[in-house]
Amino acid sequence: MQFTAKKSQVLTQKTQCAIVFASNESLLPSAKAIDEDTGGRLSAFLRSGDLKPKAGRKRWLVLGKDEKPYARVLLVHLGKLDDKKSTFFKAESLLQTFASIAQALGNSPATDACVYLDDIFSEGLSFQLNGEDISRQWASEQFAVAIGKALYRYTETKSKAEPLPSLKKVTVVASEPEQVKRFRTGLHKGAAFAEGINLARELGNLPPNICTPAYLAKLAKQLAEQSENVLSSKSLNQKQMEKLGMGAFLSVAKGSTEEGKLIVMEYKGGTSQSKPHVLVGKGITFDTGGISLKPGAAMDEMKFDMCGAASVFGAIKALIAMKAKVNVVALVAAAENMPAGHASKPGDVVTSMSGQTIEILNTDAEGRLVLCDTLTYAERYKPKSVVDIATLTGACVVALGHHATGLYANNQELADKLLEAGKQANDKAWQMPLWDDYQKQLDSNFADMANIGGPGGGSVTAACFLSRFTKKYAWAHLDIAGTAWHSGAKKGATGRPVSLLMNYLLSAD
Ligand code: BES
Ligand code: MN
Ligand code: ZN
Repeated sequence: MQFTAKKSQVLTQKTQCAIVFASNESLLPSAKAIDEDTGGRLSAFLRSGDLKPKAGRKRWLVLGKDEKPYARVLLVHLGKLDDKKSTFFKAESLLQTFASIAQALGNSPATDACVYLDDIFSEGLSFQLNGEDISRQWASEQFAVAIGKALYRYTETKSKAEPLPSLKKVTVVASEPEQVKRFRTGLHKGAAFAEGINLARELGNLPPNICTPAYLAKLAKQLAEQSENVLSSKSLNQKQMEKLGMGAFLSVAKGSTEEGKLIVMEYKGGTSQSKPHVLVGKGITFDTGGISLKPGAAMDEMKFDMCGAASVFGAIKALIAMKAKVNVVALVAAAENMPAGHASKPGDVVTSMSGQTIEILNTDAEGRLVLCDTLTYAERYKPKSVVDIATLTGACVVALGHHATGLYANNQELADKLLEAGKQANDKAWQMPLWDDYQKQLDSNFADMANIGGPGGGSVTAACFLSRFTKKYAWAHLDIAGTAWHSGAKKGATGRPVSLLMNYLLSAD
């Protein structure tokens, strides 16, 4: 997919699809121009009531062959303001509109489209995000993300793939060179985000017999080979982890015949002296629960238990695509959690790399076991910050549902940056308490701590567990159990929280 911005005029610009807008009761300037050029065929939609004044409602107008420079028009409604209540639109409704356009383009035979996005900044119109007017850069960024996401299809393991979308090129048109520049910047960023999001989705969606720890390690190697100048990678096998004393990580990996891997990717876009930000991804490529076996219903969805790792890969992919000028280290804790004769049992006590001992009371609380040693490993980078991303607890889904990612941090400045990054990306997180009050739920009679904290506050006690391994740096934990994938008819990985992570990394110093 190619995204560009250029200076042009709606009536002379050749395209297979001109995308123009209406808001309230009227056509915005480019729509008005086409309306006049076609003898009122767009205003007819409004007058007849065929185009309802709701965000994202749309109508196609198909022109005769060579009748006009534009082969078809997609007229999209931005919605109607109840001016007694409000003087501006919410940015969310614009995102809804973009999603609707993206869906239409994904199903259209058009191979290119020109969108007259500058019109949404016309006099009298206002879209607000967090109490501030949105910028052209933000709008075009979100537009590219929406289009990029809508064109993704899962095909890898289907023998009869559905036809892929025809769209190859999207152009944002404006009349002022300054605006063209702003749109271009946003498109560039959004296209990179979409690439990262779609990689995260693909990895999440791949079946667990394909997407194994070894598969992820190989992917890291391939990414590094393709981008030798900025990315290097290595992966530690179980023997190397043993040498480091990673008894917690290994207690999970040893139950499977697939070898566990600690995958390291170092992205160097910043100066050689500047310390990196570290991302740590939970990469349980399948979570059966181990000896504390999960019930059978929907167990297939535990292939998504590596979505934290997938989002870390997605962020690396996006950083490369953007040539971002930051240093980032990605650590992926990859293992399969299986029941076996050589698997850990409830009651086993293991020693973590930090020296702290852990009583495994439930082998299904495996994410924190692979993460804690990986978090200790992160110390060697003297990181500016460490953010782990994990499908860690079902309890987080109970607390926050599927809209917000759970956020915990030992540093409020870091928490605030991540919350803001999520708001800007429409990939929101909500901060949860990391209070000492919860820590005693992890007490054990036989080790320094237990790996579970009892029935109440399961997402909090999981974060408390991790906090015992992150005392040496500014750290945040994102519990994406509720946001990483959709269940039901739309079953599939969402690619969250790649956008949040990217906005954070791009704004962090
Ligand atoms: N991967 C799961 C968490 C999960 C469950 C995410 C369902 C999304 C949907 C994790 O490894 C797990 O099993 N956690 C347990 C912890 C419990 C044993 C303390 C859970 O949430 O039930
Ligand atoms: Mn589990
Ligand atoms: Zn798990």
